[in-house]
Amino acid sequence: MPNMSRRTLEQFIKDFNETGRVLRPNPDWEEDLRQTVIVTPEIEERVRSYSRMKKKKVAQECHCQEGETRPGVAPLIKMNDGNYIPSFGLGTWLGVDKKTGELMPVKDNSVQRAVEMAIDAGYRHIDTAAVYNTEEQVGAAIQNKIAEFVVQREDLFITSKLWNDRHRREDVLPALQETLAKLGLDYLDLFLIHFPISQYSNGTYYEADFLDTWKGMIDARGRGLVKSIGVSNFNLTQMKRLLAMSPVKPAAIQVEVNLNLQQPELIAYCKTNDIAVIGYTPFGSLFHNKAKKDAPPPRTDEQALLRIADKYHKTVAQVALRYIMELGVIPIPKSVTKKRIEQNIEVFDFQLTQAERNVMKAYNNGYRVITVDMWKDAPDYPFEHKK
Ligand SMILES: NC(=O)c1ccc[n+]([C@@H]2O[C@H](COP(=O)([O-])OP(=O)(O)OC[C@H]3O[C@@H](n4cnc5c(N)ncnc54)[C@H](OP(=O)(O)O)[C@@H]3O)[C@@H](O)[C@H]2O)c1
Repeated sequence: MPNMSRRTLEQFIKDFNETGRVLRPNPDWEEDLRQTVIVTPEIEERVRSYSRMKKKKVAQECHCQEGETRPGVAPLIKMNDGNYIPSFGLGTWLGVDKKTGELMPVKDNSVQRAVEMAIDAGYRHIDTAAVYNTEEQVGAAIQNKIAEFVVQREDLFITSKLWNDRHRREDVLPALQETLAKLGLDYLDLFLIHFPISQYSNGTYYEADFLDTWKGMIDARGRGLVKSIGVSNFNLTQMKRLLAMSPVKPAAIQVEVNLNLQQPELIAYCKTNDIAVIGYTPFGSLFHNKAKKDAPPPRTDEQALLRIADKYHKTVAQVALRYIMELGVIPIPKSVTKKRIEQNIEVFDFQLTQAERNVMKAYNNGYRVITVDMWKDAPDYPFEHKK
């Protein structure tokens, strides 16, 4: 392969894959010397593999099929609106300060660097939200990786979320426009109602039925500013109400899913109704340094998990992510650490046995990490009240 700009190579391979013929590369490419790079076999293979993936649109309903899996590249899942979502993503929430209970302040550009490292490692699905204060960093990383010709916009799946103070129908579109401006994008792949709770930033609740918020989401989709719409932190009753009252089903729901909180009823309902389930806080209380004192096992030193991890030459964290995927859920682990980012997505080259899944199923006990107790008196508080 001679010197060729990466974009030209991508176009070339795309044309080849679509028509089965070798088409002449863009005749203009020689003009743009700044874009000319030596196309190494590694780059060539990477571009070819993404191109193949896009063409095949590897539709994977729930389980990763053996033979359809390749290390570091997440198969795509078809949603009920016809769009595809990568079955693995990167979270970008910096979490809560253990001492103050406040959102962790964004002090540096670690999220931008994490998203760049993730895209380099093969992630194509990035999760953010207006309330995380990381949209600008996610956007900067995307612009950089597009400028470096590592990806094109349409290779990426970007999710953001509507915050609780913008739930009136007429507020949804302006909120989405602000999100897009921060991200520097002209569309989102997925926009979610973050919580079914309507609360102003001063802490007071206001009346805005989530059915009206949902109408605002449908309006926004109609304007072409978002491809798919969905919800987050809705419980089963709220999902049933939404589906009964709206002609448009959510394409996806994002809820907490981890070993302690496997959500069998909600997942079964979503599967029946063809709604993709995205699992947040996928590690739950697995890590000693993150788990609250009252959190039930397992931790990463759990012998039964170590035995499974050893068998596949994986870490306990990877085995936990793999289990979530085999529940038919899309995990979105967050990390700003290069090694972990790279390791977390290496979960497509093994499959658990039924006996191993049974071991992991037994950790399900309904324990939540994200309880948002401060909203437990809200009219639509979605979680079980603590006894
Ligand atoms: N919709 C919602 O209401 C909602 C709520 C919560 C979360 N989310 C989304 O879901 C994403 C993930 O959830 P989360 O951030 O709460 O929790 P998480 O992904 O389960 O855990 C993140 C923590 O695990 C650490 N970590 C990551 N990979 C690791 C590994 N291989 N070994 C050891 N430690 C590892 C990270 O540390 P380092 O970063 O230091 O590596 C970080 O402290 C969020 O970032 C956000 O995008 C959505």
